Amino acid sequence: MNIIKAHNLACPIDGQKLEQINKQLVCVNSHSFDIARQGYANLLPVQHKRSKQPGDSKAMVLARTEFLNSGIYEAIAEKLTDIVFAEVNKDKDTCFLDAGCGEGYYFDYLFNRLIDKTGDNKLSFIGLDISKDAIIQATKRNRQITWLVGTNRQPPVEDESVDIILCLFGFLSMDAFNRALKPGGVIIVVDPGAEHLKQLREIIYPEVKKPDVSDSSQIEIEGFSLVKSETLTFDEKITSNEKINQLLIMTPHFYRASKEGRLAAASLEELEITVDVIFRVLEKT
Ligand SMILES: C[S@@+](CC[C@H](N)C(=O)[O-])C[C@H]1O[C@@H](n2cnc3c(N)ncnc32)[C@H](O)[C@@H]1O
Repeated sequence: MNIIKAHNLACPIDGQKLEQINKQLVCVNSHSFDIARQGYANLLPVQHKRSKQPGDSKAMVLARTEFLNSGIYEAIAEKLTDIVFAEVNKDKDTCFLDAGCGEGYYFDYLFNRLIDKTGDNKLSFIGLDISKDAIIQATKRNRQITWLVGTNRQPPVEDESVDIILCLFGFLSMDAFNRALKPGGVIIVVDPGAEHLKQLREIIYPEVKKPDVSDSSQIEIEGFSLVKSETLTFDEKITSNEKINQLLIMTPHFYRASKEGRLAAASLEELEITVDVIFRVLEKT
């Protein structure tokens, strides 16, 4: 039985097709990659690593898992599912790549909803993240998804083999995504909006900056056109110090904030948050 379900994986060293032979993925030039006992493959060669342990740390991954499992962000996953569903042609095989999938909450949610809604097996799911700890955690959510350690700079898939790329709160690599997408394929980008977590930012920073939001006009220059842009905004009260700390640790704010800011947020017993998220659908032109 193939542990790795996807059929369009490519060698990160030479781009040749990867085939599963026993517990390895192997290309025609004999580059081989072990499939770990948890069921994921590590397709990040040492020469593509920019640090010893790239991506989110184990502490960030665990905090994100606990926070997301509480359901506070479930509305984001629901809206993502609706947007994705509108892009899926039920009569066609569809390959999804979640680029920077983290510990897999959104992709697993999407997998379960889409399988429910489409009721067929024409869908294939590849979750990619540069953090090995994130991918190990993701394997615990779902064994039907192909989980890979690798980089968005060079997704280890064959050229023009992916229909829908998801990039949630992550790092866009437009040239590489363009290469991976089929003609007419789409990228669904989810970014924080201007109001996102403003209350947390007001506590941890002396001066609150607007979050960086990818410039859609820039994206169009790179071979994509913006076909949809929607926002989701809601308020939520978090009434547990543990949850507030998980939120703090899972966001990049934890590392950017001053020590004083971190301590002030870490001691809160409750926090009202505004969740403000932008969904964009970009089509390959
Ligand atoms: C803010 S987290 C978002 C994770 C997930 N998309 C979510 O929304 O829960 C960003 C993720 O991008 C990953 N990452 C950072 N650089 C990357 C790269 N070059 N290629 C792939 N993943 C990367 C990190 O390890 C981390 O899991």
